Amino acid sequence: MARLENDLLLRALLREPVPRTPVWIMRQAGRYLPEYRRVREQAGDFMSVCCNPDLACEVTMQPLRRYKLDAAILFSDILTVPDAMGLGLYFVAGEGPQFERPVRTAADVRALRRPDVERALGYVFEAVRTIRRELNGRVPLIGFAGSPWTVATYMVEGRSSRDFATIKRMATAEPAALQSLLDLVAATTTDYLNAQIAAGAQAVMVFDTWGGALQADDYRRFSLASMQQIVDGLVREHDGRRVPVILFTKGAGALLADMASTGCDALGVDWTTDLATARRYVEDKVALQGNLDPATLRESPEMIRRGVAAVLASYGNGPGHVFNLGHGITPDIDPAHLGVLIDAVHELSPQYHR
Ligand code: CP3
Repeated sequence: MARLENDLLLRALLREPVPRTPVWIMRQAGRYLPEYRRVREQAGDFMSVCCNPDLACEVTMQPLRRYKLDAAILFSDILTVPDAMGLGLYFVAGEGPQFERPVRTAADVRALRRPDVERALGYVFEAVRTIRRELNGRVPLIGFAGSPWTVATYMVEGRSSRDFATIKRMATAEPAALQSLLDLVAATTTDYLNAQIAAGAQAVMVFDTWGGALQADDYRRFSLASMQQIVDGLVREHDGRRVPVILFTKGAGALLADMASTGCDALGVDWTTDLATARRYVEDKVALQGNLDPATLRESPEMIRRGVAAVLASYGNGPGHVFNLGHGITPDIDPAHLGVLIDAVHELSPQYHR
């Protein structure tokens, strides 16, 4: 088993005792850091950073040089999976991701094939191996993928959406076509995450950014069921250690209870549900990760410290909490403010673990 100097994250995700609450930040590598913007400029664009294992490694390490973080997260994107299926991913500055060939009809779905992930996404696994070598056991590396529902929203809408009109139309008019699309993405994502684990990812997270746009029964049918397929297909132990699985649905609310029954190890929680309530929903079956409102990072250092204290107090005593924001850090944040947050977690969390 590879030696890990700091395994607080893995222990907390498995609800084992820790001396303080571990902390990492969604989108910790990214545009709020000037050193990230420099690498992206030199590479030309975002996907060129993702596709170059040395650059992906460099930007993954950048936040760890600045802050006392307890985890690294692979630098990549959830849309590499549909890109590998041949949809033609590209990014337009200021408009986010788009696909050249969106999936609109049952015939479009039938034409899709399950890609050989080793061949189509080998650059991601090479990045994982490069980052593990560079980390040299300092902290664990988190791998990730999008949930089938969230990835399918981009595949069907062809780009970021607010109302999800096209995919919701498909759910009503052609539910079998949508189901086979979700099944295909779930199978590919299972292969993709298992290959990340084989390459060295020590925990994995599934980002279901848009599951909260569905009414509850549609959420269970189209989003949660396909995440369940992934959880069921994942390799849960590698290199002598359990590989924790984190599910994160933004806007899950009371559906956290259903999510906790999938057999995952931990749930990400956004800031609209306080952790004390979330803890009651999940009945201590799983660990919780979150959930400071990212907007708090625009406030004064004193307000940030107060926000951290409130999140820690809301979770309360005992193991099973990983500190994070309730969603990703935004590009406008002053990097010094993130330092205030992380220092506050180090300072204020030990009292909850005595
Ligand atoms: O957390 C990390 O540091 C790891 C890197 C990571 C990225 N994307 C890098 C990225 C992760 C985990 C993601 C996941 C992702 N990608 C999600 C789910 C997570 C979430 O926040 O809910 C989604 C929905 C995507 C799709 C995506 N990729 C969008 C909508 C965008 C544009 C966002 C924007 O604000 O313009 C991206 C691009 C992207 N992915 C960037 C980064 C750092 C910005 C690209 C750039 O440098 O210009």
